[in-house]
Amino acid sequence: MKRKRTLDLETRSAEETIDLGKRIGKLLRLGDVVALIGKLGSGKTTLAQGLARGLGVKKRDYVTSPSFTLIKEYKGKLPVYHIDLYRIDNLREVYDLGYEEYFYGEGVTIIEWAEKVRKLLPQEVMIINLEIIAEKRRRVELIPKGKHCQEIVKRIKC
Ligand SMILES: Nc1ncnc2c1ncn2[C@@H]1O[C@H](COP(=O)(O)OP(=O)(O)O)[C@@H](O)[C@H]1O
Ligand SMILES: [Mg+2]
Repeated sequence: MKRKRTLDLETRSAEETIDLGKRIGKLLRLGDVVALIGKLGSGKTTLAQGLARGLGVKKRDYVTSPSFTLIKEYKGKLPVYHIDLYRIDNLREVYDLGYEEYFYGEGVTIIEWAEKVRKLLPQEVMIINLEIIAEKRRRVELIPKGKHCQEIVKRIKC
């Protein structure tokens, strides 16, 4: 029987989502792209915060407040690019951003509202779907594309 590659998890608080992000973040490496998909309030920014922490970004350096900047860059053990496409409504703006530099860049890229750029995502990508189940419960589904991301999911499973 073919083993299921995706991983379906549930978190019961923002802290649990941050912890999950940290665990994943620790396993990310240069060039990895994490695509976060889910409605407003589903926990994308919260998970991104955990990912950044797992990548060695200091808590005090991380900006949680909503911001109008499309791309934030952090210094962890690798450069971390956090892209929030919330305000983007056409691909032109993404092209103008010089997205390739980030999607195939010298760091780790985390993209919120990644469904807006589905066609532009690299073939190897960690897709993470977030869904609101209840006030504090979130479904977090990891869909790894490519060997390395599949390896990460295997390690998160144990
Ligand atoms: N299990 C959970 N995981 C993530 N966030 C949660 C959870 N439970 C409650 N929350 C709250 O939901 C909100 C998620 O916001 P945010 O991460 O900014 O979402 P998004 O970036 O998807 O719009 C935060 O206020 C957070 O405290
Ligand atoms: Mg957000």
